[in-house]
Amino acid sequence: MKTAKDLKIPFTWEQRRPIFMDRFFYIPSHYDYKQETIPFFQKTQPIIIEYCSGNGQWIGDRALQNPEINWIAVDKRFERARKVWLKTYRENIPNLTVVCGEASTFTKFYAPQAEEIYVNFPDPWPKLRHAKNRLIQVEFLNDLLKILKPHGRATCVTDDATYATQMMEEFSKCPEWKKLFHLNQWPDYGKSFFNDLWEKRGRTFHYLSFEKI
Ligand SMILES: C[S@@+](CC[C@H](N)C(=O)[O-])C[C@H]1O[C@@H](n2cnc3c(N)ncnc32)[C@H](O)[C@@H]1O
Repeated sequence: MKTAKDLKIPFTWEQRRPIFMDRFFYIPSHYDYKQETIPFFQKTQPIIIEYCSGNGQWIGDRALQNPEINWIAVDKRFERARKVWLKTYRENIPNLTVVCGEASTFTKFYAPQAEEIYVNFPDPWPKLRHAKNRLIQVEFLNDLLKILKPHGRATCVTDDATYATQMMEEFSKCPEWKKLFHLNQWPDYGKSFFNDLWEKRGRTFHYLSFEKI
């Protein structure tokens, strides 16, 4: 059985480079990135990407329920990405691969063509002076259009009303995105750490779905 000790980044800062090993793709920060095709999966199947996966509960459940799809979990924090990697072995989920890296870097340089995209509870950066750090912005949305197949969907979920409004504004700036719906409830959407946390605190959720036209 794999343990956390089985996943270490095998080089020093000076030797750092993107590396794919064993269901785990590591993208270092501050690197001269080049576009590359990574053999994320042994089996060729449609791919769905979740950004900001955290500990991977949502995507792990989805991947177990849908073995005919290949799933990619993306999170920039190594400890969280490693948790998802451990999950793929402990729960035997060969159709789930983990990317440890910045969402925007992964999308620009390494992401494969995807059928669908999910962004579940991205960090809201509630203070106005930090809003520039929010992931859902025009540049990222334009990069998503490049990796998404025609009529593919992007779904974003947040409990932050201000961020939900900004998300709608950012999508509306890209003519290739069509808004499909904005729901406050989606009973069988799936669970995650932050979903459960905010649900217990009675927060209102925003499920926003868009289609690439
Ligand atoms: C609020 S947590 C949500 C985690 C999970 N989706 C859930 O619902 O429990 C946000 C996660 O997004 C990750 N994250 C934030 N910005 C990111 C970025 N630009 N690229 C990749 N991961 C990011 C954080 O490391 C964190 O794990």
